[in-house]
Amino acid sequence: MKAEALRIDADRLMRRLERLAAIGAIEGGGCARLALTDEDRAGRDLVVGWMRALGLEVAIDPIGNVFGLRRGREDVAPVMTGSHIDTVRTGGRYDGNLGVLGGLEAVETLNAAGIVTRRPIVVAFFTGEEGARFAPDMLGSLVYVGALALPAALDVVSIDGRRLGDELARIGYAGDAPPGVHRPHAYVELHIEQGPVLDAEGITIGAVADLQGISWQEIAITGQSNHAGTTPMRLRHDPGYAAAAIGGFLRDLARELGGSQVCTMGKVDLHPNLINVIAARATLTADLRNTDEALLREAERRLALFVGGLAHAEGVTIATRPLARFAPVTFDAGVVQLVERTAARLGYSCRRMTSGAGHDAQMLARICPAGMIFVPSVQGISHNPAEHTAPADLAAGANVLLHALLELAA
Ligand code: GLV
Ligand code: MN
Ligand code: MN
Repeated sequence: MKAEALRIDADRLMRRLERLAAIGAIEGGGCARLALTDEDRAGRDLVVGWMRALGLEVAIDPIGNVFGLRRGREDVAPVMTGSHIDTVRTGGRYDGNLGVLGGLEAVETLNAAGIVTRRPIVVAFFTGEEGARFAPDMLGSLVYVGALALPAALDVVSIDGRRLGDELARIGYAGDAPPGVHRPHAYVELHIEQGPVLDAEGITIGAVADLQGISWQEIAITGQSNHAGTTPMRLRHDPGYAAAAIGGFLRDLARELGGSQVCTMGKVDLHPNLINVIAARATLTADLRNTDEALLREAERRLALFVGGLAHAEGVTIATRPLARFAPVTFDAGVVQLVERTAARLGYSCRRMTSGAGHDAQMLARICPAGMIFVPSVQGISHNPAEHTAPADLAAGANVLLHALLELAA
C-alpha cells in the first residue's frame, strides 16, 4: 500500500484505550493512576508488553521514562512521539494515554504495511507528567531534557509523604538507560485539548502553536488553634480564614488581570479539620497560568503582596514554597505547519491554538523541534472522569500523528 493511503485502525486504538482505562478504573468511567502507585505500575506493565509485542526495543531511564524504539533504515536521530500514562486521582481515560497509545497505533499500522522509515521512531511515556502526586508536573520529561538534576528529582516527596526514588524502585521502573537516551530529531505529541475551543467551534484538529506559562506554589499558614465558640473574632489568628481569603483573592486576581490569566486553589488541607476548632494550620496550593510571562510574574507579585498583608492583618505565619515554574513555550513553526498541512491533506478541519494545559512536549521543545496535535474534548471537560472525546476524533488525531511521523521520519 502507498504510504499516503495508510490509516490507523480506530477499533484497535479504542480497544487499547479501554484496556488501559480498566487499570485504576474509577466510578464515572475515569482512571486513578497517580504516578508511581501500584496502578501506575500495572498500566506501565501493560503498555511495555504492547511495545514488546510490536517489536519495539524498550529502554527505561533512571527516572522511569519508558522508550520503545522502532528501528529505521538508518541509524540516525529518531523521531519521537508519546505522552504520559499517569493520571490525576480523578482523571479521564484519554489525557496522556491517547498520545502513547496513538503512537503505538501508528507503529502497528506501519508494521502491518511493512513500511520502514528512514529515521527510527520512538514511542515514549514520561514519568509523573501530572504533578498531582509529585511536583513539579512534567517531572520525567524535565529530567530527560536535562533541566532537573536526577538526584533532586529522586528526592521529591509526594503528597502522601513518599520519596520519588523509593516509589520508582518499589514499582520496578528505575531503569538503567542513559539519561537523555534516544535524543530526538523532532517530537510530536497527540493529546486531547482538555479545553472547550475545538468542541465549541466544531473543529477536529488543533495545531498547537504555543503553551501558557505555569506557576505552582504551596502556601502553608500557621495560626492559633482555639475554641470556635469562645474565641472573640478580634482575638483570632485563623488559618482557615486566611486560606479562604487567599482562595477568594485568586479569583479576583484572575478577573483583574483578565486575558488568559487563570488562578486555581485546587488543594486545601486544614488541621485538625473539625467543626468547632479554629484550625491550627492550613496548607493550600495556588496554580497560576498565563500566556504572557510578564503578566504571570505580575500575578505572582500581586499574590505575594496579598499574602504578606494577610499574614500581618490576621496575625498568622505564612510560608510559601515553589512547586513548579515554567515560562510560556512557543512550539516549532515547522512542526506546527506540518500538523496543519497533514490535517488538510487528510481532510480534517484544523485551527492553530494555545494549550492551557502543561505537556511533556513543552519540555522536549527545549532540545528539539516539537509540536502537538489536539483533538476535541467534549464540553472542554478534563481532569474529571467525564472527560470524553468522540472515537472518530481520537482516530483523526492518530491519523494526523501517523502521517506527521511518516514525514518527519522520511
Ligand atoms: C497537567 O495536566 C497540567 O496541570 O496542566
Ligand atoms: Mn496530559
Ligand atoms: Mn492532565
